[in-house]
Amino acid sequence: MSHPAAAPKARPLKGCASPALKGEATVPGDKSISHRALILGGMALGETAITGLLEAEDVLGTAEAVRALGATVVREGPGTWTVHGTGVGGWSAPEDVLDFGNAGTGSRLMMGAIATTPVTAVFTGDASLRKRPMGRVLQPLKLFGAEYDAQPGGLMPVTLKGAAQPLPVHYHVPMASAQVKSAMLLAALNAPGTSRISQTTLTRDHTEKMLAAFGATIVVEPLTEGGEAVLITGEAELKGIRIAVPRDPSSAAFPLVAALLVPGSEIILSDVMLNPRRTGLFATLQEMGADLEIRNPHDAGGEQVGDLVVRASHLKGIDVPVARVPDMIDEFPILAVAAAFAEGKTVMRGLEELRVKESDRLAAIVAGLRANGVSVEESEDGMVVEGMGPGGVPGGGMVTTHLDHRIAMAFLIMGLAAKTPVAVDDATMIATSFPVFESLMGGLGALFEPA
Ligand code: S3P
Repeated sequence: MSHPAAAPKARPLKGCASPALKGEATVPGDKSISHRALILGGMALGETAITGLLEAEDVLGTAEAVRALGATVVREGPGTWTVHGTGVGGWSAPEDVLDFGNAGTGSRLMMGAIATTPVTAVFTGDASLRKRPMGRVLQPLKLFGAEYDAQPGGLMPVTLKGAAQPLPVHYHVPMASAQVKSAMLLAALNAPGTSRISQTTLTRDHTEKMLAAFGATIVVEPLTEGGEAVLITGEAELKGIRIAVPRDPSSAAFPLVAALLVPGSEIILSDVMLNPRRTGLFATLQEMGADLEIRNPHDAGGEQVGDLVVRASHLKGIDVPVARVPDMIDEFPILAVAAAFAEGKTVMRGLEELRVKESDRLAAIVAGLRANGVSVEESEDGMVVEGMGPGGVPGGGMVTTHLDHRIAMAFLIMGLAAKTPVAVDDATMIATSFPVFESLMGGLGALFEPA
């Protein structure tokens, strides 16, 4: 595997006033499900056949790591991959450092997946990932018997030694993190007996659903105080399955908001995943007055999917319900852009988790809005955006993206509807989650230019 390399050269780009966006587009596969399909495929016996895999840098890093641990991972064609796993507990020590690039999900889930197998691995990543807290996963993994060494503050590079004689665990995840919950569930797979992982807030449930599909014994119980407990039986035998990865609602969010903001637009985004733990943005935009219709909802491979029909809309500011935050945690950069073009204030609270994303996303959003003439009030866990109304955003700023793909995409979208173009200092990180962003948006009519 490659060692952490120097960051590729930055590519400044700007979003420019665009004609009405028109047409139909299909965004790539879901990032969360793509990571999980590769990891569980690598832990299962037999073949896992994946279609629609997101072929973006973050997911390719996970494919590489699963391969380095001994599974056979083959790209059969575009988006079509097969994984022949080793069986739970069958991974062997990697020969080299595991470099996860920008990927918090890939690295944290893989820490869980090796924590109960007697192998030692070194985890590292890019300058963004090396600033992100890993203690939230590593500390509870010690309960299974894993040991680790991290940099001060629980940062990468991390050396993780999986437990040779793992123990079952009862653990309450104290923050609204699907990554921590998932890491614990993956670790529990090779511990004897039943582990119980609970969380007061509901977070995305892709790991639980996929574990059941691979044949794990897993029971989900509601908690009286709210949230859920997941009971999972260890020493599991997982069997390879077929997985059709649904399309990523967090990627669809960008063309969706672009079409709301650029006058005269009307687009269709087909086959988008509508898992209720992921659709908080859609509900929020509808409350803001978005002309957003969901057509043809149906089940595909255990997930609800449907087509989003979006028309340019006059948005109004709202108070975003705090309880909805986990269901749209990755969508606040693009919601803040929508809020800038709304009439009135949009109040967003309960966003403390945004401070530990690919960047301090709250600070990056606030700085980006201000650089483009939008007033915003920042607090420790939220922001209030003063909407400037349709077409009212001055633009003209240069936004610092801090190696954060979603900051880059959100502000490029702002430029499509602002009075003057909006530049971002680096568009390269978009490849971590949505490599076809520029061509897909361009196909709908969006204009981007080198900055
Ligand atoms: C993810 C969980 C969320 C989300 C991330 C993907 C996942 O992170 O922000 O983009 O696939 O489990 P946290 O679990 O840290 O909140």
